Amino acid sequence: MPPKLPQPRRGSLLKKFNLLLISFYLGSLLLTIPAVYLVTQAQSHEAADRELSLLVGMVRALRGYVAEELRPTLMPQGIYHPPAVSSTVATSLVAQRFTQENPSYYIKVASDNPLNPRNQANTLEQQLLERFRGDRSLTELTERGVLNGERFLVSARPSVSVGECLTCHGTPEAAPQEVIEQYGSRSGFGYANNSVVGVMLVGVPLGNVQELVITRSVAVIGIITAIFTLFFFSANLLMRRLIITPLVNITKMAQSVSQGELGSRIEVKRNDEIGALAHAFELMRRSLVTMLKRQGGS
Ligand code: HEC
Repeated sequence: MPPKLPQPRRGSLLKKFNLLLISFYLGSLLLTIPAVYLVTQAQSHEAADRELSLLVGMVRALRGYVAEELRPTLMPQGIYHPPAVSSTVATSLVAQRFTQENPSYYIKVASDNPLNPRNQANTLEQQLLERFRGDRSLTELTERGVLNGERFLVSARPSVSVGECLTCHGTPEAAPQEVIEQYGSRSGFGYANNSVVGVMLVGVPLGNVQELVITRSVAVIGIITAIFTLFFFSANLLMRRLIITPLVNITKMAQSVSQGELGSRIEVKRNDEIGALAHAFELMRRSLVTMLKRQGGS
């Protein structure tokens, strides 16, 4: 009775190979998500930066227009109509119209002593106001912050009172009648010369990075999964056809030779390594046959 041969363990090579493929797949997913996140975040910040400088440029142009074109012409004629002579008022009114049509943007001239209660500084604006008051050399700050519960990229500039501001913001008695009629005399006065009285804010939405990351990740993961699945099945098919099945066959043939069936040829018609292995076994079988014949003959 020939010794019992260990049974070929079907699938164990394939298992190792598949384990490798699956770890590649999981590894690429692990790399994908942070990469998508970083790229998306960088893109959305870049877009916000571009939008912000565009909007800041537009607001600055508007203020310049009022200060350099309108005010020097109208004020000497005794015209104190605020929307025409104050760049702050012009900005505030244009901003109201603009943000009505584009509610995701933020433009505001805020103060802790406002004529118009709408312009009362909120928490972030008050913080910026204090920073500008604390460091008079600051002329602009760009910050990420939360306004009305949304994340914004904000550009802030201090609003500094100079002599002519006091025409309207000095004392209620000296202020133009038009201002008092519209805003009353409770707040928005008593500005000191050369002090930071407000903060000019322009904000663009930072976009919902998370939402974008999720949709993009789902798309990328879908593509990777499709590619891996295709690769997985075709690699498995090839692996079975080219390696596993011929190896199992050679093993079976060698087993039957070892169990005494010396007449059965070991044959795999291929000219690669597997074919060479089968051929080597066949040579071994033949020498075994010759050797046994010689022994039997002696
Ligand atoms: C002709 C009058 C007039 C002049 C001059 C003027 N302002 Fe005003 N200012 C106003 C009015 C009116 C408002 C309220 C605008 C609104 O309804 O949003 C205002 C609003 C403001 C605000 C927003 C907070 C608030 O009071 O509602 C700031 C800050 C401000 N002005 C600063 C200045 C500075 C700084 C100057 C000088 C560079 C200046 N203003 C010159 C009339 C004036």
